Amino acid sequence: MKTIEWIGDSAGHLRLLDQTALPLETKFIDCETTKDLFDAIRRLSVRGAPAIGVSAAYGVLLGLRDIAEGDRKSFDTTFFEVSDYLAESRPTAVNLFWALDRLKKLVKHESELSPLQMRERLLKEAIAIDTEDQEMCAAMGRFGAELIPEGAGVLTHCNTGSLATAGDGTALSVIFAAHEQGKNIHVYADETRPLLQGARLTAWELMQRNVPSTLICDSMAAWVMKQGKVQVIITGSDRIASNGDAANKIGTYGLSVLAKAHGIPFYVAAPSSTFDFEIESGEEIPIEQRDSKEITIGFGKQTAPDGMKTYNPAFDVAPAENITALITERGVIQPVTKQNIAALLNRES
Ligand code: MRU
Repeated sequence: MKTIEWIGDSAGHLRLLDQTALPLETKFIDCETTKDLFDAIRRLSVRGAPAIGVSAAYGVLLGLRDIAEGDRKSFDTTFFEVSDYLAESRPTAVNLFWALDRLKKLVKHESELSPLQMRERLLKEAIAIDTEDQEMCAAMGRFGAELIPEGAGVLTHCNTGSLATAGDGTALSVIFAAHEQGKNIHVYADETRPLLQGARLTAWELMQRNVPSTLICDSMAAWVMKQGKVQVIITGSDRIASNGDAANKIGTYGLSVLAKAHGIPFYVAAPSSTFDFEIESGEEIPIEQRDSKEITIGFGKQTAPDGMKTYNPAFDVAPAENITALITERGVIQPVTKQNIAALLNRES
């Protein structure tokens, strides 16, 4: 079952597995316009940093379906408008901007192509982004599984699997690889308040793959660690700054602090498309603020008095000094320093 699928030629459409309906229903949404995709990203029908990037790469084509007959100048104008519009859908995951920037560079570079040829070239690039993401997931799984001890209890947060990427996932790819190697692991999945990506999505993926696992409320993580049930913590990330500070689903910062307090290694698995070399530290990462209703009327049931004020940041930042290692498709970065990151990912530090 594919989370993201482009149907047809360069004038085709985008089919998404609607993640808001899981785990009760498996249904698909057909996005015919960029607005369809914009809304799907906003309401988290498609979510997870790499999956947002891949779907946006395809999604640009939705805004170019009628333009292929016109001149190249108006094609480019529409392309940049569509890209800028999709870039507004969610602010934290840098993979969105990374994918759109990659297409923008291509459009600037391939100025000789006709509108139709350019549209076909963009589809080819979106497919490449999709395929590369699948390969990066597999490579993270291979590198990361080596860090998981035999018989380990592995705690994870949010959803980082095949729903959140084009492949097997980031942190969950590592978990799946360790499980497939017969390491006898047991996963503790945080439910991940307020939108329950852990309970609805990670639990579903773990059960689909028969990985022994237990769902816990976020507030139980500290006690589960204290009881010695967790030997490794592994999460994904939505944006990693040059110094290794890593933004991820709200609650990740707390887990990184708890990991230190309990002497448990804390790993972050992320592809190179999640690194933002434009920023020095996590302080510069924009944190998405979401609707208060997600806290007060989650899933249709009111759980707070009318008029209660809320604060609902969707992400937080685990500081580099709390992260034992970063697992990327190119290898493991340990210790997490600006120099080590730059060296592995071939960037100037
Ligand atoms: O708000 P979401 O569900 O898009 O948040 C997703 C996460 O925080 C993931 O952990 C993250 O994207 C990294 S791994 C795919």
